[in-house]
Amino acid sequence: MLSLSAKNSTLIFLFFTSLIHLSISAFAHADDESGLLAFKKGIISDPSGILSKWKSGTDCCTWPGVSCQDTNRVTLLQIFGQSNTPNGYLSSTISPSLSKLKELNGIFLQHLGNISGPFPSFLFSLPNIQYVFIEYNKLSGKLPENIGNLSKLSALSFAGNRFSGPIPSSIGGLTQLTQLNLDHNLLTGTIPASMKALKNLSTLTLEYNKLSGAIPDIFSGFNNFYVLELSHNKLSGNIPGSVVALAPKIRFLELGHNALSGNIPDFLGKLQALDTLDLSWNKFSGTVPKTFSNLTKIFNLDLSHNSLVDPFPQLNVKGIESLDLSYNKFHLVNIPKWVTSSTIIYSLKLAKCGLKLKLDDWKPVETYFYDYIDLSNNEITGSPVKLLTGQIIWNLVFGKVPKDVAGLRMLNVSHNHLCGQLPAMQFTASAFAGNDCLCGSPLPACKA
Ligand SMILES: *[C@@H]1O[C@H](CO)[C@@H](O)[C@H](O)[C@H]1NC(C)=O
Ligand SMILES: *[C@@H]1O[C@H](CO)[C@@H](O)[C@H](O)[C@H]1NC(C)=O
Ligand SMILES: *[C@@H]1O[C@H](CO)[C@@H](O)[C@H](O)[C@H]1NC(C)=O
Ligand SMILES: *[C@@H]1O[C@H](CO)[C@@H](O)[C@H](O)[C@H]1NC(C)=O
Ligand SMILES: *[C@@H]1O[C@H](CO)[C@@H](O)[C@H](O)[C@H]1NC(C)=O
Repeated sequence: MLSLSAKNSTLIFLFFTSLIHLSISAFAHADDESGLLAFKKGIISDPSGILSKWKSGTDCCTWPGVSCQDTNRVTLLQIFGQSNTPNGYLSSTISPSLSKLKELNGIFLQHLGNISGPFPSFLFSLPNIQYVFIEYNKLSGKLPENIGNLSKLSALSFAGNRFSGPIPSSIGGLTQLTQLNLDHNLLTGTIPASMKALKNLSTLTLEYNKLSGAIPDIFSGFNNFYVLELSHNKLSGNIPGSVVALAPKIRFLELGHNALSGNIPDFLGKLQALDTLDLSWNKFSGTVPKTFSNLTKIFNLDLSHNSLVDPFPQLNVKGIESLDLSYNKFHLVNIPKWVTSSTIIYSLKLAKCGLKLKLDDWKPVETYFYDYIDLSNNEITGSPVKLLTGQIIWNLVFGKVPKDVAGLRMLNVSHNHLCGQLPAMQFTASAFAGNDCLCGSPLPACKA
């Protein structure tokens, strides 16, 4: 009984409060409307009419991209460019009048194509701002020294802009951050050690910048970390020891295309949740640690273009999806069993890996998903005919595959010791160049 009447009175209470709410919130706060209209006025080109329904005299809480929550104040602004429409972009700078939206909690201005100008300083005037995603636009200039003042931020992304200069060390003041994306900009300098205060981070993406120096040893106590992407920078030195602290949860560790050196540390084998490990195009030397046999969940492994040597450990991975070990100092001789037995592999790159097998003897259990095979620069013998016309990849080459599988797009068996007449197929001559006695289109015709 008691609970029933409690429920009823709650319902009555809700009914009245929503009446009151309706009567006062018929229109949003005047500051919010004028702030948004000034933002619209600043847009010099909106060819697909993204903001065409933003009209004075209508409730701005009903405008596309604008949300108000419970109050009559705008809490969320979300404008997405339409990458599938050629004119789905906006041209402008971001009007500082957005600082009038005093209760704004999240701002998402994504893929707008032609939004330029400096760092949006109006963010400093928004006391409740927690989510900032101003991504894939053309903002430029430096990140402000006092960026750490935005201390309520939970997530910050300026990915895909043209910011240059250093990452300010005050960024360590953003201790509530769970996500920080500054990838695809022109940032220089080092990764600030002050980031060690960002213990709640789960995602840090800084790839495709010009960052240099060592990766700071800052990761101890990062207990919720899933994604570390630092590839395509100019980072040097070793993989720091505190990366082991990311072990329980980290799934993506991408450090490729830098100038990192030293051995691959044994402790990487402790990152047992890893799905993707990219250490390619660095200067790593020595062997691949035996501990990698514990990386049973790895799907994507790229160690290509380093100076790694034998022996390569036996992995216990259930199914690899993509593997690239090309251009190291390996002498693998055979394609490892854990590769041949994968039922989900789509990309295999073992160029210059010291393979010495007979091509006819390579019998992958599943070729269904293959779309990329590079076995160039090895000592593979035999004829590719069986590979191309036998059961092995016949279906992929000749298109007898289900529509959702693209088929083999790229094959390279150049610079081996293959012989024989090629069947008709779509690959170019360079895929077969430098073999002992291959012939037939796309190579010169076979002698009668
Ligand atoms: C992009 O914006 C700039 C000024 O902000 C303008 O001059 C230029 O014409 C715009 N480009 C397109 C494709 O609209
Ligand atoms: C940033 O914070 C510092 C100290 O916390 C304060 O002195 C300064 O005025 C703030 N700057 C801005 C732009 O809010
Ligand atoms: C991390 O998040 C928890 C709640 O999820 C919060 O209590 C804690 O204060 C945060 N840590 C920092 C350093 O802000
Ligand atoms: C794999 O992990 C187990 C348990 O953590 C450990 O005992 C074992 O030594 C590891 N194996 C290798 C090769 O590191
Ligand atoms: C095959 O690999 C060689 C390098 O060994 C390269 O020169 C050639 O362009 C590649 N061909 C194709 C089709 O990828």
